[in-house]
Amino acid sequence: MRSSVLVPVLATLLGLGSAKPTATEQEPPSKRASVPTVTASGNAFWQGDKRFYVRGIDYQPGGSSAMADPLADTTVCQRDIAQFKKLGINTIRVYITDNSANHDECMNALADAGIYVIIDANNPLYSINRLDPGPSYNAVYLQSVFATIDEFVKYDNTMAFFSGNEVINDDVKSTKAARYVKAVTRDMRAYIKSRGYRAVPVGYSAADVAQNRMQLAHYMNCGTDDERSDFFAFNDYSWCNSNFQDSGWDQKVKNFTGYGIAIFLSEYGCLTNGRDFGEVAALMSDKMTGVYSGGLMYEYALEENGYGIAKIPSTKASAVQEQDGFDKFASALKANPAPTGDGGFTSTTRSVACPTKDGNWLVDSTLLPAIPAAAQKMMSNGAGKGPGLKGDGSQNAGGGDSESTGDATPGSGTVSETGKPSGSKNAAAGRAGGPGSVEKAPFVVAGLVAVLTLTGTLLL
Ligand SMILES: *[C@@H]1O[C@H](CO)[C@@H](O)[C@H](O)[C@H]1NC(C)=O
Repeated sequence: MRSSVLVPVLATLLGLGSAKPTATEQEPPSKRASVPTVTASGNAFWQGDKRFYVRGIDYQPGGSSAMADPLADTTVCQRDIAQFKKLGINTIRVYITDNSANHDECMNALADAGIYVIIDANNPLYSINRLDPGPSYNAVYLQSVFATIDEFVKYDNTMAFFSGNEVINDDVKSTKAARYVKAVTRDMRAYIKSRGYRAVPVGYSAADVAQNRMQLAHYMNCGTDDERSDFFAFNDYSWCNSNFQDSGWDQKVKNFTGYGIAIFLSEYGCLTNGRDFGEVAALMSDKMTGVYSGGLMYEYALEENGYGIAKIPSTKASAVQEQDGFDKFASALKANPAPTGDGGFTSTTRSVACPTKDGNWLVDSTLLPAIPAAAQKMMSNGAGKGPGLKGDGSQNAGGGDSESTGDATPGSGTVSETGKPSGSKNAAAGRAGGPGSVEKAPFVVAGLVAVLTLTGTLLL
């Protein structure tokens, strides 16, 4: 999230496995809203057997300082969903959500509008401390993260989870936090599998920092399968009303060709030189679709930093005031529909080599910290009720079995068939398979989730 108008300047300085239904399983109860789930396979996202491109916007009215969950307030989300429909977007990213609140109304209304949601699993209270990451990687933090997964995994239109947001920035010391963010990614993916949930993709959202972007990207996709992300996303403010070459996006395609997992832009929308959103045409063109899966424009709500395209009214039920960029962004989306066909994707995923330590990258080990014992127990017991946005916070909540002790053996996050909590069925993700293998899976998995939640409390 960008906190000031100066940030762009500073920044430049600076497939689902085979589910096995059995005779005892039942059809899910009918739900009001339903969209096909999105999966990650090869280096792309899929909506059923169709390639899925993020054509979205970042959404956090009030910014991070407000610490308010727009998806827990029906008046707020209904007001803005009407605008999202005018824009013609298919995805929003929400940075701060309350994992103790109910999201049925807003998530269903978004699904009715055909809109998917990417959820950040951290918030200012429950997060990794970039300059003192060790103690902040603790079970109190992971409990909040897992509770966020519990809350949102049940909605078919939850597209992905971010395991961290700009934890690593332009301060070289922050690169040491990458081990902890990667451990959180591992733990989230293991939790999703252990709980028998649908394989919602998990990945990191990187800051717009040129000097460590490639190393960070490689780091998140190196090592054993349990430690690798499902996708990588980064923020990019380099377009500035230029073009594919002058922005350097051609190099960013070249650099990420063969990267091996899905990539998209988690924030774009440079303000310099005016703003015609030429980024959309580039992202939807065959120059990029073989490597990138779209992006999120920053941002919807107008804040002091000037990026927003909708001014939020002081009385929340009133209409928003559309800013200059609103129509321009809507026009750019309309003029550049998602391409048909497969966009030239790569069907196989692959890992890459881990980066080596240098002046811009201070991580000197490929080993990740071990999951704290108290968090490991949540794999079989569940996380329990989330702390929401009013808890005590987690950064200093280490100690005892809340703390990580030592390094994990690579592969420690692998969830085996036999390691499943009793009563759960395998709905775990696999990396193999193209769109064909993905096609049927969402419906099968929806059935499995229904079985896991027979009490009905988890259903829409
Ligand atoms: C492409 O990768 C090279 C080598 O890692 C790096 O020096 C360069 O800055 C990258 N360019 C962009 C635009 O990311």
